[in-house]
Amino acid sequence: LIDVAIDVGDMRALRAHHRGGPDTLRLESAPRPTADASSVLVKVSAAAITLNELLWDETWTRDGQDRTPIIPSHEWSGVVEEADPSTGFSSGDAVFGMVPFDQDGAAAEYVRVPAEFIATKPAGLSHVEAAALPLAGLTAWQALADHAHVGAGDRVLVLGAAGGVGAFAVQLAAILGAQVTASAMERDGAYVRDLGPAEVVLTSDRGANPAELRPGSFDVVLDTVGGPLMLPSAALARRGGVFITLQQPPPVEPLEALGVEGIFFVVRSTRAGLNRVRESVEQGHLRVTIAATYPLSAGRLAFESGSLPGRAPGKTVLIVRDGR
Ligand SMILES: NC(=O)c1ccc[n+]([C@@H]2O[C@H](COP(=O)([O-])OP(=O)(O)OC[C@H]3O[C@@H](n4cnc5c(N)ncnc54)[C@H](OP(=O)(O)O)[C@@H]3O)[C@@H](O)[C@H]2O)c1
Repeated sequence: LIDVAIDVGDMRALRAHHRGGPDTLRLESAPRPTADASSVLVKVSAAAITLNELLWDETWTRDGQDRTPIIPSHEWSGVVEEADPSTGFSSGDAVFGMVPFDQDGAAAEYVRVPAEFIATKPAGLSHVEAAALPLAGLTAWQALADHAHVGAGDRVLVLGAAGGVGAFAVQLAAILGAQVTASAMERDGAYVRDLGPAEVVLTSDRGANPAELRPGSFDVVLDTVGGPLMLPSAALARRGGVFITLQQPPPVEPLEALGVEGIFFVVRSTRAGLNRVRESVEQGHLRVTIAATYPLSAGRLAFESGSLPGRAPGKTVLIVRDGR
């Protein structure tokens, strides 16, 4: 573990000065942001990471322009440090939320967040658990409810069901009344069964979908795996069905040939969306699983853990400050 001395008015932050992988990340002293009329300054308690976020363009650029040095980690839980009264928040409020991908993230002692991307932290959750909710929880809700309009009785397939987004999607599809099939790697079978889908199908080959899955069988397919599996996965949706994929837009012509509606979207943070996630947790419909926690000073190891074999299911969270 490394630590760093900081100057007055600065903060500790995990930063990268040029585009690259986890090896570009350094714990260092960085200017502490301030609140303004529309943005709140949050004292970060915990920040969750998306394991491949260093591959996203928005992590490194804004409007196509380089924005280094960057701070990663876009979902967080903490306490309001400073807020204009017009934002509706006051110092000391326990909050959670998401920072836009092209702004500095929360792998730091403080983060500035537009007020509309913040909501009251779910009751009964630790900061570590609350930090793990926004990005994956909002993505799962927006995919299933807002884009695919999943309804009672729909046959929904979640590919990558043990992942950050997939585990929430399995639970949320059930809230919407769907009949859920969950696909995952073999080692994650017990974890995914425990999420309560109607059916679990497993594969030991990351390059293939489970053999039981038949083309044309599902009203909605949510693909969190992508890559070379994207097109074979789209074919699992029925003619007239919906295929939602999260890494990149699906190609138009092959999906037209399948008669499947292809959807790609980028998750948006909204107060209403965060409140919907919070209510799902408080009503006991949504559980959050933490794969591992790392202190901020070991942030680089947290990002490297994404490529370790046998990684535990759930979200990876940086602990910035002790305390629940
Ligand atoms: N568009 C958006 O707004 C948005 C929002 C959030 C996330 N994303 C993207 O969505 C993707 C998923 O994110 P995430 O955080 O959920 O990632 P994740 O936690 O890595 O989840 C992916 C899961 O799929 C599993 N998997 C890999 N190959 C599989 C296969 N053939 N069959 C079944 N499961 C398989 C992985 O297992 P292993 O652990 O063995 O690899 C992992 O459990 C990422 O590419 C992320 O960048 C996009």
